[in-house]
Amino acid sequence: MPVFPADSVHIRYAANVLREGGIAAFPTETVYGLGADVFNTDALARVFAVKRRPRFDPLIVHIAHRDTLDALVDFSVLTPPAQRRVALLAETFWPGPLTLVLPKLPRVPGLATAGLATVAIRFPDHPVALQLIGAMGENGAVAAPSANPFGYLSPTRAAHVAAQLGDQVPVILDGGPCRIGVESTVLDIGYGESGKADTPRILRPGGVTLEALREVIPTVEIVEIAAAGNVPSHDAQSSPGLLKSHYAPTTPLYLHSREEMRSLPKIPGHAYLYMEETVQKSAARLFDKLNALDHEGYTAIHAELAPEEGLGLAINDRLRRAAAKTGAGQDHR
Ligand code: TXA
Ligand code: MG
Repeated sequence: MPVFPADSVHIRYAANVLREGGIAAFPTETVYGLGADVFNTDALARVFAVKRRPRFDPLIVHIAHRDTLDALVDFSVLTPPAQRRVALLAETFWPGPLTLVLPKLPRVPGLATAGLATVAIRFPDHPVALQLIGAMGENGAVAAPSANPFGYLSPTRAAHVAAQLGDQVPVILDGGPCRIGVESTVLDIGYGESGKADTPRILRPGGVTLEALREVIPTVEIVEIAAAGNVPSHDAQSSPGLLKSHYAPTTPLYLHSREEMRSLPKIPGHAYLYMEETVQKSAARLFDKLNALDHEGYTAIHAELAPEEGLGLAINDRLRRAAAKTGAGQDHR
């Protein structure tokens, strides 16, 4: 198994692999990523191939210094208010689980951005990720989707990556379980392509909550959210890669409100996944628990939805997409 402790020796080794055009999996505070040098298109192609990810689904580019933004982003395209929003958000939430969708400079390969005029950028809050990116050199940047096969549960432990992709990834840095456990919030800054409204919009709820964003920028809107009975379908314009079915276990998954969950008959061979006492803990354990249950031979998994606020929006978004291919909707017993 290519799993190595995330000490400085192995981080340097992984950075060498990336610099030479290889791929490497590494921990972040949200989920494990499968990284490649963003400027190496062969390496990017390898990431898409290993994940079996369609090329219309753009990658997130990870940086370790605020200044690296200037090497990737065309700020001249942004309106002055949008420029101020970027500065404010970066100052408030970076490093951390917030990804900003910004107009790209021509030097960012179209393969990383699925041909879009925008690039998604994230400054992760994890020492291993930061050391790895930092070791890529000045203005180094690592494109990294979550390190799972396309459509499957996201990995929050090195063992998940090893089990799912271990035969195709030469190095997996083990930094322990991910602290947050759901992916970063993806925010379109509000002005990237001509014709778009000058309003910042959440494309994917995640580790930074809507409430926290609105404290800084009250006009933030949320779109494409998988609300009750409304799992949005693939919208190629605004958020490529946000698919109706995603993050899914192999076992059929059924979702229930807290009340329904308490009154469900307990069926032998079915598993029951409850929310934890705090929403943070629920998020941190979500993918790990689903992953474990998915390998224990159950014929169905019943999961409790979180309250629709704070991190609960990200948890429910993932659960609804994970349950979408089961097809039976919410109230199945
Ligand atoms: O927490 C995270 O964000 C993790 C860790 C590894 O950093 N990464 C992650 O990457 O979740 P991934 O590839 O699984 O999800 C990236 C998503 C895409 O599917 C798409 O929805 C959105 O980010 N995205 C990327 N570039 C975009 C762009 N230019 N415009 C709109 N959405 C974009
Ligand atoms: Mg993913």
